[in-house]
Amino acid sequence: MMRASSCVGHCMLSLLKLLQDGRFHSGEALGASLGVSRAAVWKQLQALEADYGVVLHRVRGRGYRLEQPVLLLDAKQINAAENAPGWPVSVLPTTDSTNAEAMRRLALESPPFAVTAERQTAGRGRRGRAWVSPFGENLYYSLVLRVDSGVAQLEGVSLVVGLAIAQAVRSFGVERVGLKWPNDVLVGGRKLAGILLELSGDPADVCHLIIGVGVNVNMSQGCQPIDQPWTSMRTELGVPVDRNCLAVVLGQQLEHYLALHSEVGFAGLMAEWEANHLWQGREVHLHAADNAIAGVVLGVNATGAIRLSVDGQERVFSGGELSLRLCDDS
Ligand code: BTN
Repeated sequence: MMRASSCVGHCMLSLLKLLQDGRFHSGEALGASLGVSRAAVWKQLQALEADYGVVLHRVRGRGYRLEQPVLLLDAKQINAAENAPGWPVSVLPTTDSTNAEAMRRLALESPPFAVTAERQTAGRGRRGRAWVSPFGENLYYSLVLRVDSGVAQLEGVSLVVGLAIAQAVRSFGVERVGLKWPNDVLVGGRKLAGILLELSGDPADVCHLIIGVGVNVNMSQGCQPIDQPWTSMRTELGVPVDRNCLAVVLGQQLEHYLALHSEVGFAGLMAEWEANHLWQGREVHLHAADNAIAGVVLGVNATGAIRLSVDGQERVFSGGELSLRLCDDS
């Protein structure tokens, strides 16, 4: 029988795999499957709750079950899929942020590679916000690419990532999905996915781009405190979505759109981006720190900057700290 101390980590994941069906399993049966004692199972179940934020139900005489059944991410399945993209994807049970983990891995691994996790304890959003990242419900995906001919080649790349996400999500049947400048993926005004690009290294020399994508996949309304209207693929479709399939399709779409972007630049994708922009022609306020500028959205330019008509004059704005709000909403 395996000693309790040697079972940490590996045992927790094996336990989760046994429990992922959402049915009751007795401590004895779990111990027998894993080759450990009931006491070791009990200890690992406690660690599952404390370390992974997993919610368990215990019923005397029946055993343990997960509050919600979960289909865990599976690196083997993702990497072996037909048409899997040309980079390996790894899966962590928990991490602070997949973007942060991807940056740390640069010391050990050569890009391109992608990191995903079942849970993030310090998920990063744009403009210093947190990205709510509960265990086993969503997709947290960070792709690392090497940038060796200067950061100018990255113009518009975050908008192109939005196109890739929109296409991936649409292929699962979420029809009303669209984009909001610069980096939001929305359904009916509610946020479905977000993008956070970060650079590591010297932007004037060789550096690395970390493309962080968070998609709300199976998260249900009411249980997460999120400070903006949001939705999930499950909410839109009425059925849960297989996150392993989504990880593969997202990878394929990212590969497709990033290749197009290096070939034709954002200029070649501008029209497609505008066709996906939900706020074309809408009256908006552009917010930057304490300032707000009112205008009508004309579109984007070849660098991915937003073009607004302000008092009848076209003006162009760019920068990661800017955000748009509809005039009707403010
Ligand atoms: C936004 O605020 O809209 C951007 C959210 C980006 C979240 C993703 S989840 C995967 C990656 N890791 C992070 O810490 N953030 C990004």
